[in-house]
Amino acid sequence: MNTLRNSTITGWGFYAPERVVTNDELAERLDTSDEWIRTRSGIGERHIAGPDEFTSTMSVRAAERAMERAGITAHDLDLILVATSSPDYLTPPVSSQIQDMLGADRAGAMSLVVGCTGFVYAVVTAHQFIATGAASTVLVIGAETISRNLNWEDRSTCVLFGDGAGAVVMQPTEQEAGVMAHVLGSDGSGAEHLIQNSGGTRNPPTAESIAAGDNYLQMNGREVFKFATTKMGESLDQVLAQAGITADDIDLFIPHQANARIIEYAAQKAGIPMEKVVMNVERYGNTSAATIPIALAEAFEAGRIKPGDTLALVGFGAGLTWAACLFQLAAEPIAPSRRRKHQHPAVEGFIA
Ligand code: UT7
Repeated sequence: MNTLRNSTITGWGFYAPERVVTNDELAERLDTSDEWIRTRSGIGERHIAGPDEFTSTMSVRAAERAMERAGITAHDLDLILVATSSPDYLTPPVSSQIQDMLGADRAGAMSLVVGCTGFVYAVVTAHQFIATGAASTVLVIGAETISRNLNWEDRSTCVLFGDGAGAVVMQPTEQEAGVMAHVLGSDGSGAEHLIQNSGGTRNPPTAESIAAGDNYLQMNGREVFKFATTKMGESLDQVLAQAGITADDIDLFIPHQANARIIEYAAQKAGIPMEKVVMNVERYGNTSAATIPIALAEAFEAGRIKPGDTLALVGFGAGLTWAACLFQLAAEPIAPSRRRKHQHPAVEGFIA
């Protein structure tokens, strides 16, 4: 019988569009204020894709950085997983566009549509492929161009979101590492709380539905807030119990970045001090499936993550869905199949 393998993260990268839109800029054309947005959500600014930027192109930028850090080429990839709810097209899947743009000639590619929770689902999925030996080098991306799905006249949604992409490379290791515990949750009865009513096959876009703004993201903020605070705490408790560890054993908590108040509430409830929490919602807003990989990549770049660390990734979003994952990084460098000559200094300690 085959034994299961462990996995670890060997590369990371992110990309945020150059264009930054501040709260004050939004307040010039909407009935809102920097004060309201900061107090209610903790958001100060967000990056918005330029006319030539798409989920595919931003993903490629993030992926190229992650592959460079891992010391691999696109040819080394066995599988590409892309978590997004704002693909370039409904068909074909954006994962195939990304595979082609990267030149990943050996890789299978698929998209996961799990709202803001998608990246955590994708990391857990990548781990299963690596654990079983079905794939060895997996590129996991979370990317969104959510600005194009927003009604920019609806102050209750448009001020909250931003665009961007984050990516990690996951590879097998013989050390104790990988997904220690996970919870993948779904409650479709809450679908109406976060929905784009038109644009799919149930309500194909018509002149009327477009005029009514049904193709834009609509959100019942209060309901999602209640759901998020409950599920973040519950799912974190569940994975800690599964792994047989306590919140003290978490080195870094990397939650979905939708609202600073939700993050602070979850951290406080779990007893995790804020210095162990990654929070960048102030600078990016809610980039949906991209928040966790962007936060993760920023934490790696800032030297906040050490080899052997235990990371807690917790997401929630449309569906409604939620997911939590405790991920232990390999303590010793792993030897990747290929390594570039000039390694970025931040990767020292993560790969041989
Ligand atoms: O990624 C997952 C998806 N999203 C989320 O996780 C979001 C979860 N929800 C939230 O973060 C919060 O509920 C919000 C930030 C969306 C809203 O905060 P809140 O404290 O729940 O505010 P509220 O919805 O209760 O609205 C308070 C008031 C309302 O006015 P009335 O009805 O009290 O007169 C809104 O009309 O604030 C008004 N309002 C605004 N005012 C100024 C709503 N949006 C704005 C705005 N500027 N942009």
